[in-house]
Amino acid sequence: MRTDTPSTPLTIYRKDYIAPGFWVDTVEMGFDLDPIATHVATRMTMRRNPESSEKDIVLFGESLKLLQLRINGVSVKKSSYSIENGILRIRNAPDELTLDIETLIQPAKNTSLSGLYVSNNNFFTQCEAEGFRKITFFPDRPDVMAKYTVMLRGDKKKYPVLLSNGNLIAEGDLPGGRHFAKWEDPFKKPSYLFALVAGKLVCQQEKYKLKSGRKVLLQVWVEDGNLDKTQHAMDSLKNSIRWDEERFGLELDLDRFMIVAVSDFNMGAMENKGLNIFNTKYVLANPSIATDVDYAGIESVVGHEYFHNWTGNRVTCRDWFQLSLKEGLTVFRDQEFSADLVGTATGRAVKRIEDVRLLRQVQFSEDAGPMAHPVRPDSFVEINNFYTVTIYEKGSEVVRMYYTLLGHDGFRKGMDLYFQRHDGQAVECDDFRAAMADSSGRNLKQFERWYSQAGTPRVKVESSYDKASKTYELTLSQSCPATPGQSKKLPFHIPVAVGLLNSNGKDLVLNLEGQATPSKATTVVLELTSAKQTFRFTGVAKKPVPSILRNFSAPVVLEYEYTDEELGHLLAHDSDAFNRWEAGQRLAMRRLVKLTKSVLQGEALELDSMFVEALRSTLNDRTLDPSFRELVLTLPSEAMVAEEFKEVNPQAIHQARQFMRSSLTQQLRADLLTAYEENLTPGKYSPDAVSAAKRGLKNLALSYLLEWPEDATFALAKTQFDEAQNMTDRLAALTALTNFSGSAKNAKVSAQALQKFFRDFKKEALVIDKWFMLQGTARTTDAAKVRELMKHPAFTLSNPNRARSLAFSFCNANPSRFHAADGSGYALWADLVVALNKLNPQVAARLARSLDRWRKYPKALQVQMKAALQRVADTSKLSKDVLEVVTKALA
Ligand code: PHE
Ligand code: ZN
Repeated sequence: MRTDTPSTPLTIYRKDYIAPGFWVDTVEMGFDLDPIATHVATRMTMRRNPESSEKDIVLFGESLKLLQLRINGVSVKKSSYSIENGILRIRNAPDELTLDIETLIQPAKNTSLSGLYVSNNNFFTQCEAEGFRKITFFPDRPDVMAKYTVMLRGDKKKYPVLLSNGNLIAEGDLPGGRHFAKWEDPFKKPSYLFALVAGKLVCQQEKYKLKSGRKVLLQVWVEDGNLDKTQHAMDSLKNSIRWDEERFGLELDLDRFMIVAVSDFNMGAMENKGLNIFNTKYVLANPSIATDVDYAGIESVVGHEYFHNWTGNRVTCRDWFQLSLKEGLTVFRDQEFSADLVGTATGRAVKRIEDVRLLRQVQFSEDAGPMAHPVRPDSFVEINNFYTVTIYEKGSEVVRMYYTLLGHDGFRKGMDLYFQRHDGQAVECDDFRAAMADSSGRNLKQFERWYSQAGTPRVKVESSYDKASKTYELTLSQSCPATPGQSKKLPFHIPVAVGLLNSNGKDLVLNLEGQATPSKATTVVLELTSAKQTFRFTGVAKKPVPSILRNFSAPVVLEYEYTDEELGHLLAHDSDAFNRWEAGQRLAMRRLVKLTKSVLQGEALELDSMFVEALRSTLNDRTLDPSFRELVLTLPSEAMVAEEFKEVNPQAIHQARQFMRSSLTQQLRADLLTAYEENLTPGKYSPDAVSAAKRGLKNLALSYLLEWPEDATFALAKTQFDEAQNMTDRLAALTALTNFSGSAKNAKVSAQALQKFFRDFKKEALVIDKWFMLQGTARTTDAAKVRELMKHPAFTLSNPNRARSLAFSFCNANPSRFHAADGSGYALWADLVVALNKLNPQVAARLARSLDRWRKYPKALQVQMKAALQRVADTSKLSKDVLEVVTKALA
């Protein structure tokens, strides 16, 4: 029973794992679909697990009405079972049995979007992580894998389409205007991969021939009226299938693979066996509604879910502490997929830079806050709170380190062994590590610490050159800050990829003392395993410039005292495109930190010409890919700058960064205009990498140009807005117009453009999300403005995409306004978290995390943030999702 005062939430520990008392071999389900009351009949064949210390049948259930409970056809006596705290426990069960359960559920009332729910009058399920228990009582844990047969029945007019996992084996009409469909999934699966979809939907479909010659049916299901937006998802699916065959030798194991789009969804998408369910945001696209970023997002999410079929579904997780086993690995796979699809070396680097930017901005910050946890956590209160950037993005970095250490072929061998050993099983992160170690013969024992220790390691590097002996030494030392529950850390096994540049900017051929380096190698991977180690390069004729942590070979913070000249040298010449970009970022960051300090001390702000000229030459270097130039010209975000400070002053950071942007514009105006004009993409829109890169650079130039109040550039943006042939250009122009600070006349033009945009796209929910998002992050938007926008008829907190578009964008991506001195941002945040808590605990808990780092702000702000957190913590009927987040923040 939940009481009004939040009880201390129950913590679950990894060390407490016990194998299930009973296995389930088969599950047969019958659904009588009705939004008000859906009847669910479940029959499972079970058998005792002799290896378990659990003697009872333990079934989980939530928000269910139990109608029937029978063992081998006989009703279970009241005295033989109990239901307590969401657990149905049956005592004295026979070793083998058939268990029948009938439950009644209320999909229309389910606003949590977990379990069976209704969206736009259609039915959908979401079972990961623990949603299946909202459908029936079940051993809802990933190590219980069974074969499912599912019978769906419903009104034929309202629900003409009835889908579930696997193959359609029967369908037909029923009396009373009803019909049925029966589905059978030939593969054993954990309950979190169960799915059903029912409603009025239409599909784009295609027969696709696998490499083996077998033909499969591919379908993309959407609401009526959206069939003009499914082609890109279909193309992405076909690319994913081919890529997994070619890169990993993994074939689609089903005859039919379906993607369904739903507009109410908590996350990006879900890898249910054969029936992936997607947030519309990651399916629907055509040039007039989707940006280049959206197109890329769809490609990677379609890939991600498809790749889960092997890494997640065929081999799944023993328990939820192992979540990164499937997520880290699958993110690594989708990152590689996107990189391979672009194909070019710069394309790969650009993708890498984007991924690392996300990691640093969000995961490093998580790792430094109260929710910091290892890639394989030791405990949690609510598993839904652990679908984090640490599990996903840092998890992917951990997988990438195996790849770096073992090489392309070595990694593939490890993957092959992993599938050979564990296909059809529910396993642990350690099993993956063992497959990598055993296939390569390498000792990866110390590598385990990447899974068990939280926090971002810091690697400090010192160099020395000895002219007489022509030797160059790098001394690497590592440390890792304390995190909640882990005060002391042991050294990690860190691969540090290094190259050395001569004064012409050319890579030296490396001779690393004591290590056989491949001949002519210009990059070597130093393996840092102790607290401190020195590596010596011989035959170095002159003092080189080191390029350290190439391609970001480990998820660490690198500290090396580069001079500005060295950074300029790397920016101009490094053969490693990642570090070339990184050098530019270091130059910018140094200055942003200094400018912020100047703002705080009331000093005059200045930007030196060395930096401006370095950016100018990159901008004008036509040998460089436009997407790479765009990334170099993109300054570190305000959130990144904040990480450089012990105490964060968001307004000062904002002012410093804005100063840098406008000074750059003032000095690079002509170059920016040229870049703008050279990168126009007239003609039919195509989302391919080359044209997307051009638009990216052009629109970055545009956003800079409008930093300097000038009617001519304002007019340029206005024309782009009016004449845009695609959403990328239209949205970029509207964003620039909105953030322009010029005359009242211009402000009026911007406001009208904003209104026109709404009118033109009011039927396209995903575009209206962009409209709210643009305003949530606009420079002039404060909490009062957000409250006003929340009254707009198109706004609702019940739809997660819409809630995120305004509330999350303001709280997480508009720092100088959110952290207003009057506390208005925090008051809004608390109101939103409390309101969302009632509707959708998962979404509420995500928003709750916006105040995670409250201790990093000046005292005056801390006091207000703490009060807001306390207000949320004191709210009655708080979900354990939100309770865990605010309790940890306040601890
Ligand atoms: N497993 C999904 C993915 O990463 C994410 C997800 C988790 C979706 C929980 C819904 C609920 O692909
Ligand atoms: Zn995933």
